[in-house]
Amino acid sequence: MENFSFYSPTYFVFGKEAESQTGDMVKRFGGTKVLIHYGGGSVVRSGLLDRVKASLDAAGIAHIELGGVKPNPRSGLVYEGIDLCKKENVDFVLAIGGGSTIDSSKAIAAGVVYDGDFWDFYCGKRIEEALPVGTVLTIAAAGSEGSPDSVITREEDMMKRGASGDAIRPKFSILNPALTQTLPPYQSAAGITDIMAHLYERYLTNTTDVEVTDRLIEALLLTMKHEGPRVIADPDNYEARANIMWAGMMAHNNSCGVGRTQDWNSHNIEHELSALYDCAHGAGLAVTMPAVFKYVMDHNVMRFAQVAVRVWGCSMDFEHPEVTALEGINAFAAFLTSLGMPSNFEELGAKEADIPTLVENLCCGNGRDGSISGFVTLNKDDCARIYQMMV
Ligand code: NZQ
Ligand code: ZN
Repeated sequence: MENFSFYSPTYFVFGKEAESQTGDMVKRFGGTKVLIHYGGGSVVRSGLLDRVKASLDAAGIAHIELGGVKPNPRSGLVYEGIDLCKKENVDFVLAIGGGSTIDSSKAIAAGVVYDGDFWDFYCGKRIEEALPVGTVLTIAAAGSEGSPDSVITREEDMMKRGASGDAIRPKFSILNPALTQTLPPYQSAAGITDIMAHLYERYLTNTTDVEVTDRLIEALLLTMKHEGPRVIADPDNYEARANIMWAGMMAHNNSCGVGRTQDWNSHNIEHELSALYDCAHGAGLAVTMPAVFKYVMDHNVMRFAQVAVRVWGCSMDFEHPEVTALEGINAFAAFLTSLGMPSNFEELGAKEADIPTLVENLCCGNGRDGSISGFVTLNKDDCARIYQMMV
Protein backbone atom coordinates (compact mmCIF):
# COMPACT_ATOMS: atom_id res chain seq x y z
CA MET A 1 0.00 0.00 0.00
CA GLU A 2 1.25 3.50 -0.81
CA ASN A 3 1.44 6.37 1.70
CA PHE A 4 -1.65 8.55 1.72
CA SER A 5 -3.51 11.28 3.54
CA PHE A 6 -7.29 11.17 3.68
CA TYR A 7 -9.47 14.11 4.67
CA SER A 8 -13.20 13.70 4.19
CA PRO A 9 -14.96 16.01 6.61
CA THR A 10 -18.46 16.15 5.05
CA TYR A 11 -21.32 15.91 7.58
CA PHE A 12 -23.96 13.49 6.24
CA VAL A 13 -27.61 13.53 7.24
CA PHE A 14 -29.21 10.38 5.81
CA GLY A 15 -32.80 9.19 5.70
CA LYS A 16 -36.46 10.02 5.25
CA GLU A 17 -37.33 13.73 5.45
CA ALA A 18 -33.68 14.61 6.10
CA GLU A 19 -34.09 17.75 3.97
CA SER A 20 -36.03 19.34 6.84
CA GLN A 21 -32.64 19.77 8.55
CA THR A 22 -31.15 21.91 5.76
CA GLY A 23 -31.59 25.21 7.61
CA ASP A 24 -29.92 23.87 10.76
CA MET A 25 -27.03 22.50 8.71
CA VAL A 26 -26.40 25.81 6.92
CA LYS A 27 -26.43 27.54 10.29
CA ARG A 28 -24.05 25.00 11.79
CA PHE A 29 -21.53 25.72 9.03
CA GLY A 30 -21.80 29.48 9.34
CA GLY A 31 -24.02 30.41 6.38
CA THR A 32 -26.17 33.53 6.71
CA LYS A 33 -27.08 34.20 3.08
CA VAL A 34 -27.47 31.29 0.71
CA LEU A 35 -27.48 30.89 -3.07
CA ILE A 36 -29.86 27.99 -3.78
CA HIS A 37 -28.70 26.40 -7.03
CA TYR A 38 -30.76 23.81 -8.91
CA GLY A 39 -31.32 22.21 -12.30
CA GLY A 40 -34.03 22.01 -14.93
CA GLY A 41 -37.01 21.88 -12.63
CA SER A 42 -37.35 18.39 -11.07
CA VAL A 43 -36.90 19.92 -7.58
CA VAL A 44 -39.64 22.47 -8.32
CA ARG A 45 -42.07 19.81 -9.55
CA SER A 46 -41.43 17.48 -6.60
CA GLY A 47 -41.96 20.26 -4.04
CA LEU A 48 -38.43 19.74 -2.67
CA LEU A 49 -37.36 23.32 -3.38
CA ASP A 50 -40.26 24.67 -1.33
CA ARG A 51 -39.52 22.29 1.55
CA VAL A 52 -35.87 23.34 1.62
CA LYS A 53 -36.78 27.03 1.51
CA ALA A 54 -39.19 26.49 4.43
CA SER A 55 -36.34 24.88 6.38
CA LEU A 56 -34.04 27.84 5.65
CA ASP A 57 -36.78 30.30 6.63
CA ALA A 58 -37.37 28.45 9.90
CA ALA A 59 -33.65 28.77 10.69
CA GLY A 60 -33.64 32.47 9.80
CA ILE A 61 -31.31 32.05 6.81
CA ALA A 62 -31.70 34.50 3.91
CA HIS A 63 -31.68 33.00 0.42
CA ILE A 64 -31.71 33.76 -3.29
CA GLU A 65 -32.08 31.31 -6.19
CA LEU A 66 -30.44 30.38 -9.46
CA GLY A 67 -31.97 27.48 -11.39
CA GLY A 68 -31.29 26.13 -14.87
CA VAL A 69 -28.25 23.86 -14.43
CA LYS A 70 -28.15 21.47 -17.38
CA PRO A 71 -26.83 17.90 -17.18
CA ASN A 72 -23.13 18.20 -18.12
CA PRO A 73 -23.12 21.66 -16.53
CA ARG A 74 -21.89 24.65 -18.54
CA SER A 75 -19.51 27.47 -17.79
CA GLY A 76 -22.02 30.20 -18.73
CA LEU A 77 -24.25 29.60 -15.72
CA VAL A 78 -21.19 29.37 -13.46
CA TYR A 79 -20.14 32.91 -14.48
CA GLU A 80 -23.71 34.07 -13.86
CA GLY A 81 -23.71 32.45 -10.41
CA ILE A 82 -20.36 34.02 -9.48
CA ASP A 83 -21.62 37.51 -10.41
CA LEU A 84 -24.86 36.97 -8.52
CA CYS A 85 -23.09 35.80 -5.34
CA LYS A 86 -20.75 38.81 -5.42
CA LYS A 87 -23.59 41.25 -6.01
CA GLU A 88 -25.77 39.75 -3.28
CA ASN A 89 -23.02 39.08 -0.72
CA VAL A 90 -23.80 35.39 -0.58
CA ASP A 91 -21.69 33.42 1.93
CA PHE A 92 -22.94 29.85 1.33
CA VAL A 93 -23.84 27.86 -1.82
CA LEU A 94 -26.55 25.21 -1.50
CA ALA A 95 -26.96 22.69 -4.32
CA ILE A 96 -30.30 20.90 -4.63
CA GLY A 97 -30.04 18.22 -7.28
CA GLY A 98 -27.57 15.81 -8.82
CA GLY A 99 -23.92 15.85 -9.75
CA SER A 100 -24.41 18.56 -12.37
CA THR A 101 -25.99 21.00 -9.91
CA ILE A 102 -23.46 20.16 -7.21
CA ASP A 103 -20.53 20.61 -9.60
CA SER A 104 -21.88 23.93 -10.86
CA SER A 105 -22.30 25.02 -7.21
CA LYS A 106 -18.71 24.03 -6.41
CA ALA A 107 -17.43 25.99 -9.41
CA ILE A 108 -19.40 29.06 -8.34
CA ALA A 109 -18.15 28.70 -4.75
CA ALA A 110 -14.53 28.57 -5.92
CA GLY A 111 -14.98 31.37 -8.46
CA VAL A 112 -16.51 33.87 -6.04
CA VAL A 113 -13.37 34.09 -3.90
CA TYR A 114 -10.91 33.95 -6.83
CA ASP A 115 -9.65 37.02 -8.68
CA GLY A 116 -8.92 35.25 -11.98
CA ASP A 117 -11.10 33.19 -14.35
CA PHE A 118 -12.65 30.18 -12.55
CA TRP A 119 -11.72 28.05 -15.61
CA ASP A 120 -8.08 28.16 -14.40
CA PHE A 121 -9.12 25.47 -11.90
CA TYR A 122 -10.29 23.28 -14.78
CA CYS A 123 -6.86 23.61 -16.41
CA GLY A 124 -5.05 22.04 -13.47
CA LYS A 125 -4.85 24.78 -10.79
CA ARG A 126 -5.84 23.30 -7.42
CA ILE A 127 -8.77 24.88 -5.58
CA GLU A 128 -7.44 26.12 -2.22
CA GLU A 129 -10.29 28.40 -1.21
CA ALA A 130 -14.05 28.54 -1.79
CA LEU A 131 -17.32 29.57 -0.20
CA PRO A 132 -18.75 26.69 1.84
CA VAL A 133 -20.98 24.33 -0.16
CA GLY A 134 -23.85 22.14 1.08
CA THR A 135 -25.93 19.66 -0.92
CA VAL A 136 -29.38 18.11 -0.94
CA LEU A 137 -28.89 15.14 -3.26
CA THR A 138 -31.62 13.91 -5.61
CA ILE A 139 -29.82 11.20 -7.64
CA ALA A 140 -27.31 8.56 -6.59
CA ALA A 141 -24.64 8.71 -9.27
CA ALA A 142 -21.70 11.13 -9.48
CA GLY A 143 -20.68 10.97 -5.82
CA SER A 144 -20.09 14.74 -5.86
CA GLU A 145 -21.90 14.94 -2.50
CA GLY A 146 -18.76 13.54 -0.85
CA SER A 147 -16.03 14.31 -3.35
CA PRO A 148 -13.51 17.17 -3.72
CA ASP A 149 -14.18 17.27 -7.48
CA SER A 150 -16.24 19.24 -9.97
CA VAL A 151 -16.67 18.67 -13.71
CA ILE A 152 -17.72 21.57 -15.98
CA THR A 153 -18.07 21.98 -19.75
CA ARG A 154 -16.67 25.19 -21.26
CA GLU A 155 -19.30 26.35 -23.71
CA GLU A 156 -17.13 28.01 -26.34
CA ASP A 157 -15.32 24.79 -27.31
CA MET A 158 -17.38 22.17 -25.37
CA MET A 159 -14.27 21.14 -23.44
CA LYS A 160 -15.33 19.02 -20.42
CA ARG A 161 -12.77 19.03 -17.62
CA GLY A 162 -12.49 18.45 -13.87
CA ALA A 163 -11.15 20.51 -10.97
CA SER A 164 -10.29 19.40 -7.44
CA GLY A 165 -9.55 20.67 -3.96
CA ASP A 166 -10.59 19.95 -0.38
CA ALA A 167 -12.08 23.46 -0.22
CA ILE A 168 -14.99 22.31 -2.42
CA ARG A 169 -15.80 19.16 -0.49
CA PRO A 170 -19.35 19.77 0.72
CA LYS A 171 -19.58 20.87 4.36
CA PHE A 172 -22.74 18.80 4.62
CA SER A 173 -24.77 16.57 2.34
CA ILE A 174 -28.38 15.62 2.90
CA LEU A 175 -29.17 12.17 1.54
CA ASN A 176 -32.84 11.18 1.54
CA PRO A 177 -33.18 8.05 -0.63
CA ALA A 178 -36.93 8.71 -1.08
CA LEU A 179 -36.03 11.78 -3.17
CA THR A 180 -34.56 9.46 -5.81
CA GLN A 181 -37.85 7.59 -6.29
CA THR A 182 -39.03 10.14 -8.90
CA LEU A 183 -36.06 9.44 -11.20
CA PRO A 184 -36.82 8.15 -14.70
CA PRO A 185 -35.50 4.53 -15.03
CA TYR A 186 -32.84 5.61 -17.55
CA GLN A 187 -31.38 8.13 -15.07
CA SER A 188 -31.46 5.54 -12.27
CA ALA A 189 -29.57 3.12 -14.52
CA ALA A 190 -27.08 5.80 -15.59
CA GLY A 191 -26.45 6.57 -11.92
CA ILE A 192 -25.89 2.90 -11.08
CA THR A 193 -23.43 2.64 -13.98
CA ASP A 194 -21.50 5.71 -12.83
CA ILE A 195 -21.23 4.37 -9.27
CA MET A 196 -19.88 1.06 -10.59
CA ALA A 197 -17.45 2.96 -12.82
CA HIS A 198 -16.08 4.84 -9.81
CA LEU A 199 -15.43 1.47 -8.20
CA TYR A 200 -13.84 -0.11 -11.28
CA GLU A 201 -11.63 2.93 -11.90
CA ARG A 202 -10.15 2.37 -8.44
CA TYR A 203 -10.02 -1.41 -8.76
CA LEU A 204 -7.80 -1.03 -11.83
CA THR A 205 -4.62 -0.27 -9.95
CA ASN A 206 -0.92 -0.94 -10.40
CA THR A 207 -0.37 -1.09 -6.64
CA THR A 208 -0.05 -4.58 -5.17
CA ASP A 209 -1.24 -5.87 -1.78
CA VAL A 210 -4.21 -3.55 -1.40
CA GLU A 211 -6.51 -6.17 0.05
CA VAL A 212 -8.60 -3.88 2.24
CA THR A 213 -9.57 -1.51 -0.58
CA ASP A 214 -9.99 -4.40 -3.05
CA ARG A 215 -12.44 -6.04 -0.66
CA LEU A 216 -14.33 -2.80 -0.01
CA ILE A 217 -14.73 -2.24 -3.75
CA GLU A 218 -15.89 -5.80 -4.30
CA ALA A 219 -18.47 -5.43 -1.50
CA LEU A 220 -19.85 -2.26 -3.08
CA LEU A 221 -19.91 -3.80 -6.57
CA LEU A 222 -21.81 -6.81 -5.17
CA THR A 223 -24.26 -4.39 -3.53
CA MET A 224 -24.85 -2.60 -6.84
CA LYS A 225 -25.27 -5.94 -8.61
CA HIS A 226 -27.97 -6.89 -6.10
CA GLU A 227 -29.75 -3.54 -5.67
CA GLY A 228 -29.52 -2.17 -9.23
CA PRO A 229 -32.08 -4.54 -10.78
CA ARG A 230 -34.32 -4.08 -7.71
CA VAL A 231 -34.73 -0.32 -8.24
CA ILE A 232 -35.23 -0.72 -11.98
CA ALA A 233 -37.98 -3.30 -11.31
CA ASP A 234 -39.50 -1.27 -8.46
CA PRO A 235 -38.56 2.43 -8.44
CA ASP A 236 -40.31 2.93 -5.07
CA ASN A 237 -38.17 0.36 -3.25
CA TYR A 238 -36.85 2.62 -0.48
CA GLU A 239 -34.40 0.08 0.95
CA ALA A 240 -32.77 -0.61 -2.40
CA ARG A 241 -32.60 3.16 -3.06
CA ALA A 242 -31.01 3.66 0.36
CA ASN A 243 -28.31 1.06 -0.23
CA ILE A 244 -27.52 2.50 -3.65
CA MET A 245 -27.38 6.06 -2.30
CA TRP A 246 -24.85 5.24 0.38
CA ALA A 247 -22.86 3.01 -1.98
CA GLY A 248 -22.70 5.97 -4.39
CA MET A 249 -21.14 8.13 -1.71
CA MET A 250 -18.73 5.40 -0.56
CA ALA A 251 -17.71 4.70 -4.15
CA HIS A 252 -16.39 8.19 -4.73
CA ASN A 253 -15.32 9.88 -1.48
CA ASN A 254 -12.12 7.88 -1.98
CA SER A 255 -12.47 5.55 1.02
CA CYS A 256 -11.92 2.79 -1.54
CA GLY A 257 -9.14 4.50 -3.43
CA VAL A 258 -6.57 5.43 -0.82
CA GLY A 259 -3.08 3.96 -0.91
CA ARG A 260 -3.32 2.76 -4.51
CA THR A 261 -2.90 4.13 -8.01
CA GLN A 262 -6.18 4.58 -9.84
CA ASP A 263 -7.25 4.45 -13.46
CA TRP A 264 -9.74 7.12 -14.75
CA ASN A 265 -9.08 6.40 -18.43
CA SER A 266 -12.70 5.31 -18.91
CA HIS A 267 -13.91 8.55 -17.35
CA ASN A 268 -11.64 10.67 -19.53
CA ILE A 269 -12.66 8.80 -22.67
CA GLU A 270 -16.34 9.13 -21.69
CA HIS A 271 -16.17 12.83 -20.87
CA GLU A 272 -15.50 13.55 -24.56
CA LEU A 273 -18.72 11.69 -25.44
CA SER A 274 -20.91 13.58 -22.96
CA ALA A 275 -19.23 16.85 -24.01
CA LEU A 276 -19.89 16.28 -27.73
CA TYR A 277 -23.27 14.52 -27.63
CA ASP A 278 -24.66 15.73 -24.28
CA CYS A 279 -25.48 12.15 -23.33
CA ALA A 280 -25.86 11.08 -19.70
CA HIS A 281 -22.39 10.49 -18.22
CA GLY A 282 -23.41 7.03 -16.93
CA ALA A 283 -24.78 6.01 -20.33
CA GLY A 284 -21.50 7.05 -21.95
CA LEU A 285 -19.61 4.98 -19.40
CA ALA A 286 -21.75 1.91 -20.16
CA VAL A 287 -20.50 2.06 -23.76
CA THR A 288 -16.95 3.04 -22.84
CA MET A 289 -15.97 0.68 -20.03
CA PRO A 290 -16.28 -2.72 -21.79
CA ALA A 291 -14.19 -1.42 -24.70
CA VAL A 292 -11.48 0.06 -22.46
CA PHE A 293 -11.36 -3.02 -20.25
CA LYS A 294 -10.96 -5.37 -23.21
CA TYR A 295 -8.26 -3.14 -24.69
CA VAL A 296 -6.17 -2.97 -21.49
CA MET A 297 -6.96 -6.42 -20.09
CA ASP A 298 -3.58 -7.94 -20.97
CA HIS A 299 -1.78 -5.36 -18.82
CA ASN A 300 -2.87 -7.35 -15.75
CA VAL A 301 -5.18 -10.16 -16.64
CA MET A 302 -5.34 -11.45 -13.05
CA ARG A 303 -6.93 -8.17 -11.88
CA PHE A 304 -9.80 -8.70 -14.31
CA ALA A 305 -9.98 -12.42 -13.50
CA GLN A 306 -10.17 -11.63 -9.77
CA VAL A 307 -13.16 -9.31 -10.12
CA ALA A 308 -14.76 -11.78 -12.54
CA VAL A 309 -14.62 -14.51 -9.90
CA ARG A 310 -15.34 -12.46 -6.79
CA VAL A 311 -18.10 -10.21 -8.17
CA TRP A 312 -19.50 -11.81 -11.32
CA GLY A 313 -19.39 -15.42 -10.07
CA CYS A 314 -17.20 -16.72 -12.91
CA SER A 315 -15.14 -19.88 -12.37
CA MET A 316 -11.40 -19.40 -12.49
CA ASP A 317 -9.67 -20.95 -15.48
CA PHE A 318 -6.14 -21.25 -14.11
CA GLU A 319 -4.68 -22.34 -17.44
CA HIS A 320 -6.34 -19.52 -19.35
CA PRO A 321 -7.01 -16.63 -16.93
CA GLU A 322 -7.73 -14.37 -19.93
CA VAL A 323 -10.85 -16.43 -20.57
CA THR A 324 -12.10 -15.74 -17.04
CA ALA A 325 -11.15 -12.07 -17.33
CA LEU A 326 -13.11 -11.67 -20.55
CA GLU A 327 -16.08 -13.55 -19.11
CA GLY A 328 -16.17 -11.02 -16.23
CA ILE A 329 -16.07 -8.03 -18.60
CA ASN A 330 -18.87 -9.54 -20.69
CA ALA A 331 -20.94 -10.24 -17.56
CA PHE A 332 -20.55 -6.61 -16.48
CA ALA A 333 -21.50 -5.35 -19.95
CA ALA A 334 -24.57 -7.63 -20.02
CA PHE A 335 -25.57 -6.40 -16.57
CA LEU A 336 -25.49 -2.77 -17.73
CA THR A 337 -27.53 -3.61 -20.83
CA SER A 338 -30.09 -5.42 -18.65
CA LEU A 339 -30.60 -2.15 -16.74
CA GLY A 340 -31.45 -0.38 -20.02
CA MET A 341 -28.08 1.19 -20.76
CA PRO A 342 -26.75 1.53 -24.34
CA SER A 343 -23.94 -0.73 -25.54
CA ASN A 344 -22.63 1.01 -28.66
CA PHE A 345 -22.16 4.34 -30.44
CA GLU A 346 -25.46 4.15 -32.29
CA GLU A 347 -27.54 3.54 -29.16
CA LEU A 348 -25.72 6.41 -27.45
CA GLY A 349 -26.19 8.80 -30.38
CA ALA A 350 -22.46 8.98 -31.17
CA LYS A 351 -20.97 8.98 -34.69
CA GLU A 352 -18.03 6.99 -36.03
CA ALA A 353 -17.06 9.95 -38.23
CA ASP A 354 -16.40 12.03 -35.09
CA ILE A 355 -13.68 9.70 -33.76
CA PRO A 356 -10.77 11.93 -34.92
CA THR A 357 -12.35 14.92 -33.13
CA LEU A 358 -12.98 12.88 -29.97
CA VAL A 359 -9.37 11.68 -29.95
CA GLU A 360 -7.94 15.14 -30.58
CA ASN A 361 -9.99 16.74 -27.79
CA LEU A 362 -9.21 13.86 -25.43
CA CYS A 363 -5.47 13.66 -25.94
CA CYS A 364 -4.54 17.22 -26.88
CA GLY A 365 -7.31 19.53 -25.66
CA ASN A 366 -6.73 21.86 -22.72
CA GLY A 367 -2.99 21.38 -22.64
CA ARG A 368 -2.77 17.56 -22.70
CA ASP A 369 0.37 16.17 -24.31
CA GLY A 370 -0.96 13.58 -26.74
CA SER A 371 -1.84 10.80 -24.32
CA ILE A 372 -3.85 10.00 -21.20
CA SER A 373 -2.56 7.88 -18.38
CA GLY A 374 -4.03 5.64 -15.72
CA PHE A 375 -3.91 1.86 -15.38
CA VAL A 376 -2.04 2.06 -18.70
CA THR A 377 -0.93 5.05 -20.76
CA LEU A 378 -3.02 5.43 -23.90
CA ASN A 379 -1.82 7.44 -26.91
CA LYS A 380 -3.94 8.81 -29.73
CA ASP A 381 -3.85 5.55 -31.71
CA ASP A 382 -4.92 3.55 -28.66
CA CYS A 383 -7.80 5.93 -27.99
CA ALA A 384 -8.92 5.84 -31.63
CA ARG A 385 -8.95 2.03 -31.51
CA ILE A 386 -10.95 2.08 -28.27
CA TYR A 387 -13.58 4.45 -29.73
CA GLN A 388 -13.69 2.21 -32.81
CA MET A 389 -14.46 -0.80 -30.59
CA MET A 390 -17.59 1.01 -29.39
CA VAL A 391 -19.07 1.50 -32.89
O1 NZQ B 1 -32.14 19.11 -13.90
P1 NZQ B 1 -33.28 18.39 -13.24
O2 NZQ B 1 -34.60 18.88 -13.65
O3 NZQ B 1 -33.11 18.34 -11.73
O4 NZQ B 1 -33.24 16.87 -13.79
C1 NZQ B 1 -32.15 16.02 -13.59
C2 NZQ B 1 -31.32 15.79 -14.86
O5 NZQ B 1 -32.12 15.92 -16.01
C3 NZQ B 1 -32.67 14.62 -13.32
N1 NZQ B 1 -32.95 14.39 -11.92
C4 NZQ B 1 -32.08 14.46 -10.87
N2 NZQ B 1 -32.69 14.08 -9.75
C5 NZQ B 1 -33.97 13.78 -10.07
C6 NZQ B 1 -34.15 13.99 -11.46
N3 NZQ B 1 -35.32 13.75 -12.09
C7 NZQ B 1 -36.34 13.32 -11.34
N4 NZQ B 1 -36.24 13.08 -10.00
C8 NZQ B 1 -35.09 13.29 -9.34
N5 NZQ B 1 -34.99 13.01 -8.04
O6 NZQ B 1 -31.63 13.75 -13.70
C9 NZQ B 1 -30.90 14.34 -14.78
C10 NZQ B 1 -29.41 14.14 -14.53
O7 NZQ B 1 -28.96 14.94 -13.46
P2 NZQ B 1 -27.38 15.17 -13.24
O8 NZQ B 1 -27.22 16.05 -12.08
O9 NZQ B 1 -26.77 15.55 -14.53
O10 NZQ B 1 -26.90 13.67 -12.90
P3 NZQ B 1 -25.60 13.09 -12.27
O11 NZQ B 1 -25.67 13.11 -10.78
O12 NZQ B 1 -25.36 11.81 -12.94
O13 NZQ B 1 -24.42 14.12 -12.64
C11 NZQ B 1 -23.71 13.99 -13.84
C12 NZQ B 1 -22.58 14.99 -13.90
O14 NZQ B 1 -21.63 14.75 -12.84
C13 NZQ B 1 -20.32 14.66 -13.42
C14 NZQ B 1 -20.61 14.08 -14.78
O15 NZQ B 1 -19.53 14.21 -15.67
C15 NZQ B 1 -21.82 14.88 -15.21
O16 NZQ B 1 -21.44 16.15 -15.69
N6 NZQ B 1 -19.44 13.91 -12.52
C16 NZQ B 1 -19.04 14.52 -11.39
C17 NZQ B 1 -18.16 13.92 -10.49
C18 NZQ B 1 -17.73 14.61 -9.26
N7 NZQ B 1 -18.03 15.88 -9.11
O17 NZQ B 1 -17.09 14.03 -8.37
C19 NZQ B 1 -17.61 12.59 -10.76
C20 NZQ B 1 -18.33 11.83 -11.80
O18 NZQ B 1 -17.50 10.84 -12.30
C21 NZQ B 1 -18.87 12.64 -12.93
O19 NZQ B 1 -17.88 12.89 -13.91
ZN1 ZN C 1 -18.40 9.26 -12.98
